[in-house]
Amino acid sequence: MKKWNVAAVRAAKGKTKLGCCTAYDTCFARLADEAGVPIILVGDSLGMNCLGYETTLPVNMSDTLAAVAAVARGAKDAMVVGDMPFGSYQCGDDEAVKNAVAIIKAGAEAVKLEGGASVCSLIRRLTTAGIPVLAHVGMTPQSVNEYGGFKKQGKTREAAEKVLADAKAVEEAGAFAVTLECIPSDLAAEITAALKIVTIGIGAGPVCDAQWLVMHDLLGLNEKVPSFVKKYADLAPAVRGAFAAYVKEVADGTFPNS
Ligand code: KIV
Repeated sequence: MKKWNVAAVRAAKGKTKLGCCTAYDTCFARLADEAGVPIILVGDSLGMNCLGYETTLPVNMSDTLAAVAAVARGAKDAMVVGDMPFGSYQCGDDEAVKNAVAIIKAGAEAVKLEGGASVCSLIRRLTTAGIPVLAHVGMTPQSVNEYGGFKKQGKTREAAEKVLADAKAVEEAGAFAVTLECIPSDLAAEITAALKIVTIGIGAGPVCDAQWLVMHDLLGLNEKVPSFVKKYADLAPAVRGAFAAYVKEVADGTFPNS
């Protein structure tokens, strides 16, 4: 299997559609890697899927660094991307570069950050410093308080023009790929056609160059999932059943039996 990197992702545009996902620990990163997932994102969705938060906002740099290091130890051929948590790049570009460097030193090969035109100067600084950037426009979950919930973006023509302009701006600033989250699929198709870089959709329809799914959603570890998700396994009942069988067998003396 080939090692995925920025060049390989760029080269996939128009040739191969990439099924990418999140992971937050070594075990699942290794399994995703062995299955051929090209890009593993250590998303700040870590907060909701592993740490029990309602949003991604409480995730901090130490949560991120521990998870990135764990995932990097499990991934061999996949490209590991570390999400910059809320607060790690909003307090000035010097602080942001320092935090991005720490994510790379922990084992990521690129960082992801949310925003369009407003983060372009930072994207330029990071890419100039040799840190590849995966951008993220459309519904950006770190802006949940501004939206008043996780709401689809780009629904009016004016809003769609802004998402399109943001996507073009991050490409121009040097991002090697861009996440399009929760936008109408015709807008995602328009952006995908307009950009030379890979678009990675999540809740953005089928026309993107690649897709993200959150690991816990695709494996069915989360029982309630967004409507655009396809569960490729139904692990929650299986895991609950295994725990219950173990508890029962210890209680009734069936396990251990020697
Ligand atoms: O944190 C996350 O899971 C994301 C998604 C877009 C995959 O940013």
